[in-house]
Amino acid sequence: MKFYRIRFAKISWKLTIIYAGIFFLILTLLNISILYGVNYFLMQQAIAQVTDTGDMIIDQFHESGQQKADLVDKDLILGIPSNDNIYVKIVNKHGRIINESAKFNLKIPEKIPVKTNRIAIIQGNLLYQNRIINVKSKSYAYLQVVKSLRNVFHFLKLLAFLMLGAELTGLFIAILSGYIISREVLKPISRITATAQSISIHDLNQRISMLGPKDELMDLATTFNAMIDRLQQSFERQNQFVSDASHELRTPISVIQGYINLLDRWGKEEKAILQESITVIKNEAANMADLIERLLFLARSDSNVHKINRESFWLDEFIDEVYRETRIIADHHQVILEHNEKILFFGDRKLLKQMLRAILDNSIKFTPETGKITIHSLAEGDGVKLVIEDTGIGIPEEEIPHIFNRFYQVDKVRLKTQNGSGLGLAIVKWIVDAHQGAINVKSEIGKGTRVLIILPAVRDIII
Ligand SMILES: Nc1ncnc2c1ncn2[C@@H]1O[C@H](COP(=O)(O)OP(=O)(O)O)[C@@H](O)[C@H]1O
Ligand SMILES: [Mg+2]
Repeated sequence: MKFYRIRFAKISWKLTIIYAGIFFLILTLLNISILYGVNYFLMQQAIAQVTDTGDMIIDQFHESGQQKADLVDKDLILGIPSNDNIYVKIVNKHGRIINESAKFNLKIPEKIPVKTNRIAIIQGNLLYQNRIINVKSKSYAYLQVVKSLRNVFHFLKLLAFLMLGAELTGLFIAILSGYIISREVLKPISRITATAQSISIHDLNQRISMLGPKDELMDLATTFNAMIDRLQQSFERQNQFVSDASHELRTPISVIQGYINLLDRWGKEEKAILQESITVIKNEAANMADLIERLLFLARSDSNVHKINRESFWLDEFIDEVYRETRIIADHHQVILEHNEKILFFGDRKLLKQMLRAILDNSIKFTPETGKITIHSLAEGDGVKLVIEDTGIGIPEEEIPHIFNRFYQVDKVRLKTQNGSGLGLAIVKWIVDAHQGAINVKSEIGKGTRVLIILPAVRDIII
């Protein structure tokens, strides 16, 4: 039990981890791209602001006449928007500050790169942009616009932090819900496992309950139940077979025992008893050997170890052989071979002989000695049609469906004098099926019985 629990837990964990992993990956990619996009947007905005501020000052300087004296005028840099964390200074070509805006609350390094034009440089929390200002007297100065990015970076940090928080929360929820859902989904499996464990050869009555949605697990349960049905049927059939077989074997054994006792007591002196006993024991032993032979045949066919050895042979010669043998056995009956077409057939000769023997034995057994037994062998398409008719006692209509069942005999009383075990036609049916054929019995009480067998042609198939 424990073993299965662990395996079951493993599947739901596996599913959970896979789904949570995918979820985490998607969320991370999404967050990274959002952060990257926002960062890019804010940087572009900051650069545009710094450039605009520079443009504005330079434009104003140009408008006022590009005089060197204007560079030190405070008015020049008054127009820069406040609240934007922007600091502006003008440096002459010797590197001395000649004009600057109010510093914002940030330490600006003394040495600021000035030998660049219009290139935005980010240094720590600061964004610099240097511009060259051309003065009328062919001289020049530098304009440096600095923007603090501290707020931007703060914002980005906060955003990243919130996203990470959301991502971890999402991951936790994904793991939890994934585990709960997969556990719920897989619950029926543990039910199936528990039922399967409780099913044993001694209790094949258990079935998996079929409640719940029509899904794959329901299919599994249905398949499983159907399998147990088949197992149960075959197990019950097997049991029935064994008990019927033992029952059938008990009769000849008790007859033999009875006669041996008789012999023991009186047979040594009485010649008549001795002779009778020997005859009966001989018969019963032969019956038993016959019965055991049939039982073994059916047992082998049940376990599918029967080999069918198909070969090509002339059916007409074969039927002729069977006919001659039948005439010897049924020396009081009138045995007629009415049709025997020349047919090359591909089948198991030995099994087909056994099949015809069983049918003809029945006809001999259930037909009075004055009766007639007729054999026909005809071509039917590519296959053959075999018909065996007799003018015997017949079989009641309602019994016909049962005569192929094992140990089934129509009327045990009328058979008292006849030997037989009810296995003959079960074997016949098996042989017909093994040749993919069909068998049909028509009968009328007091008139006779007609057995029709159709065997299709099966060529070049080795079974
Ligand atoms: N030709 C037939 N005429 C009358 N009854 C038949 C004939 N063939 C079969 N049956 C009936 O079918 C039963 C089953 O036949 P079978 O399986 O050969 O068993 P068995 O011959 O050992 O009794 C027989 O017991 C008999 O009642
Ligand atoms: Mg028989």
